[in-house]
Amino acid sequence: MSPSREIEQSIVHLREEINHHNHQYYVLDEPKIPDAEYDRLMRELQALESQAPELITPDSPTQRVGSEPLAGFDEVAHTVPMLSLDNAFSDEEVMAFDKRACERLEVGAVAYCAEPKLDGLAVSLRYEHGFLVCAATRGDGRVGEEITQNIRTIASVPLRLMGGDFPDVLEVRGEVYIPKAGFAALNRHQLKKGEKLFVNPRNAAAGSLRQLDPKITATRPLEICCYGVGAVDEGALPESQYEILARLKEWGLRTSPEAQQVNGAAGCLEYYRQIGERRDALPYEIDGVVFKIDKIKQQQMMGAVSRAPRWAIAYKFPAQEEMTKIIEIDIQVGRTGALTPVARLAPVFVGGVTVTNATLHNEDEIRRKDVRSGDTVIVRRAGDVIPEVVSVVLAQRPDGAAPFVMPTTCPVCGSEVRRVEGEAVSRCSGGLYCPAQRKEAIKHFASRRAMDIEGLGDKLVEQLVDAGWVKSVADLYNRTVLPHEKLAGMARMGDKSAKNLISAIEKSKQTTLARFLFALGIREVGEATAEALANHFGQLDKIISADEAALLQVADVGPVVVANLQSFFHEPHNREVISALQHHGVHWPDIDAMAERPQPLMGKTFVLTGTMETMTRDEAKRALQALGAKVTGSVSKKTSYVVAGADPGTKREKAEKLGVELLDETALKLLLVEAGQASAPTALS
Ligand code: IVH
Repeated sequence: MSPSREIEQSIVHLREEINHHNHQYYVLDEPKIPDAEYDRLMRELQALESQAPELITPDSPTQRVGSEPLAGFDEVAHTVPMLSLDNAFSDEEVMAFDKRACERLEVGAVAYCAEPKLDGLAVSLRYEHGFLVCAATRGDGRVGEEITQNIRTIASVPLRLMGGDFPDVLEVRGEVYIPKAGFAALNRHQLKKGEKLFVNPRNAAAGSLRQLDPKITATRPLEICCYGVGAVDEGALPESQYEILARLKEWGLRTSPEAQQVNGAAGCLEYYRQIGERRDALPYEIDGVVFKIDKIKQQQMMGAVSRAPRWAIAYKFPAQEEMTKIIEIDIQVGRTGALTPVARLAPVFVGGVTVTNATLHNEDEIRRKDVRSGDTVIVRRAGDVIPEVVSVVLAQRPDGAAPFVMPTTCPVCGSEVRRVEGEAVSRCSGGLYCPAQRKEAIKHFASRRAMDIEGLGDKLVEQLVDAGWVKSVADLYNRTVLPHEKLAGMARMGDKSAKNLISAIEKSKQTTLARFLFALGIREVGEATAEALANHFGQLDKIISADEAALLQVADVGPVVVANLQSFFHEPHNREVISALQHHGVHWPDIDAMAERPQPLMGKTFVLTGTMETMTRDEAKRALQALGAKVTGSVSKKTSYVVAGADPGTKREKAEKLGVELLDETALKLLLVEAGQASAPTALS
């Protein structure tokens, strides 16, 4: 065989192989080879084609993105018009549609093909002798725009049909769309580049297909779902819509796996209900379902009016996006103190309910969307998700609408509002003092692992706060504010439970510094951090007055915890509550502060790996930290020791490679004992 003949054969073979894997991946969703292998095949084909450019054909998988940008789109006349669909919005309308069909066809019951109604853009793909020769938008239904170069970039559109029994001319009708995940990724990408965000997947799909430069279209995560045929020449098609879909699939076209044959109006309504339940879980947006009389003969008997066929109907879901006006922007203070801007809306029916509020998330989101009080906006409510403002209709902005400004003080308690650098959320620093946060803060304060006040349940806390009797956790200990009679008189309380509660409150006064710190509910100061802080500093005053460098000395305390601690103690209200608690008798034993103990392992860094026999890794970590050592997760040149138990894995190998000293369990214990003797003989609390 001549070399050129050999190349030709390899090219043909590679194209077949690539097309096969393309189909597996994009149409069947069942990839058979890893992406890297697919890329390798593509590169091989590209290399061969560049050796023999005369062998490049338009249907080669290397030619999806080939052409130069267009100057404009040509017009395409649809030989078979691309019709629209009549809509139904209620069960009754679907029943009436079915009744009309039965009457016209003079049958007792009609079978339908039920399909999801994808929310994208209708296109027509013309295949001649199996090759994709032209693709067009719907346009006005009679004349559309030629978008062949853009459609070719969509990997799930076959450039050549599979099999051989297809008609000479086959126009396939379908919907081009962007799946939900692809849409999110696309907008993340836009945001990163500082470019405009797309409002919804449908607009993004439309914008992507209308690009004059197919290279841009190629970067967009477009997909296709085929749902019908237009012109068909020289070749028979099956006799029902459902079978036609199956045939399209055999020819390598992507169709909906959700299509089903159903019977009568009852079958249609059941399908609508089932798909409706799964709507949010589907990977793409749908705005309803479509019922098509299944038998093609019956479709022909029904005929069409100028705009839409009489043999099909779309049963729409309640719209998930509607337009309305923002009356004002309010600030809500959540239980963690997070300030959430909320749009108060002129009532609007969207996603099946009347919506009057929509979240605006945070300051950055408002700025990005430039939402202002008085604006007309698009509101979205999908499934059970909280309604949100999607975008502003700028053309309808009233004169003088002022940009939104985040308040600098909490609208509930007046405390300073702070926003930690790198975080999107602004928070009220009022902590225990802020009524909005108070209930949750008190529940946490009284909880078992905090101050452990038995009998002070959630319901009771809510009653106490609602009645205005408990304004801060300190009030719980104040018998003038909260005397026995008041407690006994509350709903579901009585003399005995009030007595029990008071004695539980009394008992809680004797606590530990770690519990008390944890009970304060400082953000990100959980039990372990509270304990580390208590052990390190020994006294509350020292924690309050510690500077950043001193706080960072504590095991597991990083810059975020430092910022939270400082913000909490900086707030005068919080310091007042702490003093009041101490004034009412809350106390704890002093701890021998670790910071003041000799720290023989100070400056040494340990990495623990593998399983030890006599202690857990966590115990070893604490013991090392108690002696001043730092324990980290990864081995580097700076690591002093790697402690390797059984099955140590790669960390041991890395230590050996870097020449870091290895310790086994016995050596570690020896080291702990020796270092412990050098340390003050105080037990850890
Ligand atoms: S059939 C003659 N089936 O909905 C029948 N349309 O509102 C014409 N659509 O223009 C369309 N999914 O863009 C059909 N499974 C489906 C569909 C579907 C989405 C779109 C299509 C059409 C519009 C009509």
